[in-house]
Amino acid sequence: MINLKNIVISGKEVCPIIEGGKGINGTDGRSSGHFAKEGCVGTISLVSADYYDDNGNVVMERSTRLKRQERHEDLIKGAIKGGIAQAQIAHEIAGNNGRIHVNELWELADSEQVIRGVLEGAKGLIHGVTCGAGLPYKLGEIASEYGVYYYPIVSSARAFQILWKRAYSHYSDFLGGVVYEDPWLAGGHNGLSNAENPDEPQDPYNRIKELRATLVKLGLAELPIVIAGGVWCLQDWENYLDNPEIGKVAFQFGTRPMITTESPISDAWKKVMLQTKPGDVALQRFSPTGFYSSAIKNKFLKRLMERKEGEIAYRLEAGDGFGTPLTLSNVKTVYIKAEDLAKANNQINAGFSVIQETPDSTVVFLTPDEWKTMKEDRAKCLGCLSQCQFSAWSGVNGTTGKLCDPRTYCIHKTLFDISHNGSTDDNLLFAGHQVYRFGQDPLYANGHIPSTHELVEAIKQGR
Ligand SMILES: Cc1cc2nc3c(=O)[nH]c(=O)nc-3n(C[C@H](O)[C@H](O)[C@H](O)COP(=O)(O)O)c2cc1C
Ligand code: SF4
Repeated sequence: MINLKNIVISGKEVCPIIEGGKGINGTDGRSSGHFAKEGCVGTISLVSADYYDDNGNVVMERSTRLKRQERHEDLIKGAIKGGIAQAQIAHEIAGNNGRIHVNELWELADSEQVIRGVLEGAKGLIHGVTCGAGLPYKLGEIASEYGVYYYPIVSSARAFQILWKRAYSHYSDFLGGVVYEDPWLAGGHNGLSNAENPDEPQDPYNRIKELRATLVKLGLAELPIVIAGGVWCLQDWENYLDNPEIGKVAFQFGTRPMITTESPISDAWKKVMLQTKPGDVALQRFSPTGFYSSAIKNKFLKRLMERKEGEIAYRLEAGDGFGTPLTLSNVKTVYIKAEDLAKANNQINAGFSVIQETPDSTVVFLTPDEWKTMKEDRAKCLGCLSQCQFSAWSGVNGTTGKLCDPRTYCIHKTLFDISHNGSTDDNLLFAGHQVYRFGQDPLYANGHIPSTHELVEAIKQGR
């Protein structure tokens, strides 16, 4: 038995077990409502949250309008409608127990509008907002305006200090805590800085200790730190409890609550997770946001890795060792190194005959089918991100001005598809690096899917 003490989160004393928000539709009103019902904290994802038609069916089509700007506007309206719908569901399930939070990715286009729209439309139902992926400077101002608590997600003490000095110090009343998300272990997008090596994980203890020291220095000694990333069971984290170097803590679980009876993801996705082995998750940089992210090495991710391995540098003019001509699919001739010719020919002969440029003066090789899908995905772009490397969409002025990057993919399409019963082979499966523990943990023996209640009870006991 571990000594997990209740703490005050978003204005109420609750059990410091938090469901990590997961978009798209990885956490919703039902899953978060059940966490809150257990006296813990549930988190609704605001990323394209599901909303319903008059018959109570999920609306699957986000927009059919012709212009991307119009589709983007529909997406935002839908996200607000969805966030409100999910907050109502969560509130009903939770009763008066626990706390309900919402989560938004700051790097989504018009994320501020979505947060405001949902907080306005679901007044009194939401107690806190968590926000990561980028530096959400405005989060404190927005949350304070609506009288809800806010929780920036950071991966270092330095990032928090920047946010505090530039913005949050003016909005300290509603700062509910800071989420420390381990950039080497957490599922989803990871906040690795350029100075940090993806292959050299650092000990979370030292990083969290440094964060606490920073908080103390800033006069925030009592602010809870929410530990996220690689948290499976609390037995592993006992030395973080009642430890003056670490201070007041809560624990956020991202991957583990994906397998419960109330989790919205498909049975097929749950089954894939139950069967993973150590090393099946890759920390890579294919997301069109430009961030690192962690996902299961399924067919979809392996193909991105293979495409990247087949990448070849080129020059527009011959010289400097680049003397071998290569004709691209747009009939342009570029020059590659002689030693790369065999690599190019091998791919072309294997059916990867469409040669596409990247924004980094390199080319990659695709099958005609892959290229067709890529073009279709770009044509249907909903403008979900503030800056998208895949489609070169920019929420600021319509385009990033760069070439579309064929090494990436449409993240909205794949996350929406997988969270609505899509193929587990042909979509991205975000997961934390400890996902293999499903296969070792007795709670899931013989394919058992626990209820949220069972999961929370196991976690409270340290299991
Ligand atoms: C499928 C999946 C989707 C996620 N989506 C989001 C998201 O939209 N926003 C966010 O802040 N974090 C997201 N996360 C991160 C989780 O909220 C959580 O912090 C993280 O998974 C914790 O690490 P763990 O997976 O080791 O438990 C996601 C994680 C997963 C596995
Ligand atoms: S192409 Fe990029 S911006 Fe457009 S919907 Fe897909 S991920 Fe979002």
